[in-house]
Amino acid sequence: MPANFDINALDRAFLEDPFPTYRALRENDPVHLNADGSYFLTRYADLELCYKHPAMSSDKKVDFKPNLGDGPLYLHHTTSLVFNDDPYHARVRKLLAAAFTPRKLRELEPVIQRTIDTLLDRLEKQGSFDLIDDFALVLPTEIIANMLGVHEEKRSLLRDYSVKILAALDPRISQQTLDEGNAAVEEFGAYLEELIAERRQNPDAGGQGEVLAALIFGEVDGERLSLVELVQNCIFLLNAGHETTANLTANGICLLMDYPDQRQRLLDDPGLIDTCIDEILRFDSPVQLGNRKLTDEVEVGGVSMPRGTYLHLAIGGANRDPATFADPETFDIGRTPNRHFAFAGGKHICLGASLSKIEGRIAIGEFIRRFPDIHENGPRQRLLRARFRGYEHVPVTV
Ligand code: HEM
Repeated sequence: MPANFDINALDRAFLEDPFPTYRALRENDPVHLNADGSYFLTRYADLELCYKHPAMSSDKKVDFKPNLGDGPLYLHHTTSLVFNDDPYHARVRKLLAAAFTPRKLRELEPVIQRTIDTLLDRLEKQGSFDLIDDFALVLPTEIIANMLGVHEEKRSLLRDYSVKILAALDPRISQQTLDEGNAAVEEFGAYLEELIAERRQNPDAGGQGEVLAALIFGEVDGERLSLVELVQNCIFLLNAGHETTANLTANGICLLMDYPDQRQRLLDDPGLIDTCIDEILRFDSPVQLGNRKLTDEVEVGGVSMPRGTYLHLAIGGANRDPATFADPETFDIGRTPNRHFAFAGGKHICLGASLSKIEGRIAIGEFIRRFPDIHENGPRQRLLRARFRGYEHVPVTV
């Protein structure tokens, strides 16, 4: 099987459950050559090397051109810090870091707690609901909307923007996907420009946990973000912070349904919630794949690769590598140490990691405490995407 694997021809069985394939590759062909000349890596040590190595590029200006052309989507994705190298990446990262200081996170924590309490009260009355639409997606959307100061009446549009902008990153896209993605970037961008203009006029008018003013007026070495950089990186924050965190919450609650012994362990000892969140992130990582391109010749896992080689980093494979994790196929909510790569590593390590862990801790911890007898009342539907792992729908009764 490993020899037949191809990253550009993934089947439904892989999208439902990629872990047996990751394992077979890791054991038999850990530096797997795809038909297009790229490599697919599944060992922890190889990913660690890639995250640290100076010759690994994240810049996508050349790779995105054929699919995205020259429009708003191309501008958006190639201005986002995640798809850039230093020095641009380092400058934007330093400025965005103002949104994630421990002080800002402390300000957001009561907002998170309030949002979850209100939501759980409503769901308790409902009794049966969809875990994704009615719970997991609500919190991260609210939080990111608060951070950017998005008005109440516009919040319902955010998910749709995000889905359309990210869909354009699939390997093959239709004209409709491209048109919808371009329109979403334009519309959301125009709205953010209005918000930014408002905040420039009234710098102190932001609500609790808002970070827009810090992003507008923040300076690194006397430089601020330009309007285009600001708008496109705010759009990126929405996309980065919202589906991933929703998937952490939903994957976590589903795992706790699937492993009742671990759910009972958490109910008996709520202090395990922090290690539980890390174990969910390791065992069913919301982001399964990353990629890098070599800017020089590099040896990875014993294979010498020329400059320009494209690498797929299987985070979900590395996170179950027995060379790093004892008994890696076991879901153990008390696992320590647990140095997983759910948030990647190196220069591009997730800027929102602490925030999403706080959101996950409160959302999952409070949900399980309030609804210890949760069970499914219909079939789960997996989100069938290789990069992002989560669910489309999970009907439950509490
Ligand atoms: C469980 C939730 C999350 C997961 C699993 C996750 C995962 C990741 C991963 C794997 C990367 C590295 C991408 C790469 O270079 O290959 C990343 C980058 C990033 N994430 Fe997250 N993320 C999560 C939540 C968030 C949140 C809540 C925010 C902000 C609101 C956020 C903001 C960012 C930013 C700004 C970057 C780019 C960092 C850089 O390029 O220097 N993420 N994330």
